[in-house]
Amino acid sequence: MKFKPANNIQDLQYFGEFGGVNPSISDSSTYTFLSAKTMFDTFEGNADGCYLYSRHSSPSNLYLGEALAAMEGTETATVTASGMGAITPVLMQLCEAGEHIVSSRTIYGGTYAFLKNFAPRLGINTSFIDITKLDIVEAAITPKTKVLYCESVSNPLLEVADIKGLATLAKKHSLKLVVDNTFSPLSISPANLGADVVIHSLTKFINGSSDTVGGVVCGTQEFINQLRNVNDGAAMLLGSTMDSLRSASVLKNLRTLHIRMQQHSLNASYLAEKFEKDGLKTVYPGLASHPSHELFKSMMNEKYGFGGMLTIDVGSLDKANALMELMQERNLGYLAVSLGFYKTLFSAPGSSTSSEIPEEEQAEMGLSDGLIRFSIGLDADIERTYSMMRDCMIELNILEKEFA
Ligand SMILES: Cc1ncc(COP(=O)(O)O)c(C=O)c1O
Repeated sequence: MKFKPANNIQDLQYFGEFGGVNPSISDSSTYTFLSAKTMFDTFEGNADGCYLYSRHSSPSNLYLGEALAAMEGTETATVTASGMGAITPVLMQLCEAGEHIVSSRTIYGGTYAFLKNFAPRLGINTSFIDITKLDIVEAAITPKTKVLYCESVSNPLLEVADIKGLATLAKKHSLKLVVDNTFSPLSISPANLGADVVIHSLTKFINGSSDTVGGVVCGTQEFINQLRNVNDGAAMLLGSTMDSLRSASVLKNLRTLHIRMQQHSLNASYLAEKFEKDGLKTVYPGLASHPSHELFKSMMNEKYGFGGMLTIDVGSLDKANALMELMQERNLGYLAVSLGFYKTLFSAPGSSTSSEIPEEEQAEMGLSDGLIRFSIGLDADIERTYSMMRDCMIELNILEKEFA
């Protein structure tokens, strides 16, 4: 049977405390117990349905977590204050000092910086590899390896991970496959393809209004319980808790995610095809020229397309900067990091979101100076947007007039 994540969100039915159509927001940091015994049992993790303290869990956070678990097809989920607040506890929960992670080398700069610069302070070391080559992934696994880490569609190079293939390797070597699915919500469902843990930065498409940061870890009940354990749970003890008011607002935005993803994908796909025809070096998983186009197709759920992210290479950082400034001046979007907004956002990852990655490593992985990452917006008239973008490119000699 086909997996239909948007149906799972649509089918959620939560009643508010007074019969409201939205669940009531739990505006409390602590909770009363009718008996001292129940308080003790809750600390021991044995009192289902009782709340203890909002860093541990709160009704609003559980509603959002359950909705995201339904979307990802996992047993449960826990929400966090940011995407990094989801990623770092997961890795610290799964690895101890002396253990090892095999990670894709093309990942979000903050995750890369954590693995490269911070985790070694805890005795956790990482090998960064080309995730698209399963033989290279397997060769990097050592007896100390605990985690295979990747993004389903990577930031910023839009490499696509073969999640089924990686899951097979993870099983063979008794590792946990952790997948950051921030770039491809609804389109790809990593848990269905064999991932053990699925992470999102909710900051991006899922919330979709660039007004908050947030994160989620989706996984088994057992793993989420471990993360929330009062004695040794990394989510509980490191304290990256989402505020209940925010989880209520993210839950409301989640309900329109399917419509937004369809429009982001439609617009990105239109622009990618036009840019490629114009002769620009364009990377978009929906283009037949993308090395993992067929792989993405084989993994995707129907209807949501290939996502809202694309890159073009305009040859140099100077040209990239000039183009981004001009596009912002013409109100085509914002020169800003992040993604998943109603307006197009563009940035040059080499000098921004991936600047944590040393220059020589950037060059090795194909992250060139002239690369611009676009998060394509919900533009109602994408033909108009394209024509205005093309005018900017002609004005800056990025495109020659005859291409137009
Ligand atoms: C793929 C990916 N994962 C994780 C993060 C981190 O999320 P947050 O900024 O919500 O901590 C980002 C942020 O840009 C991202 O692009």
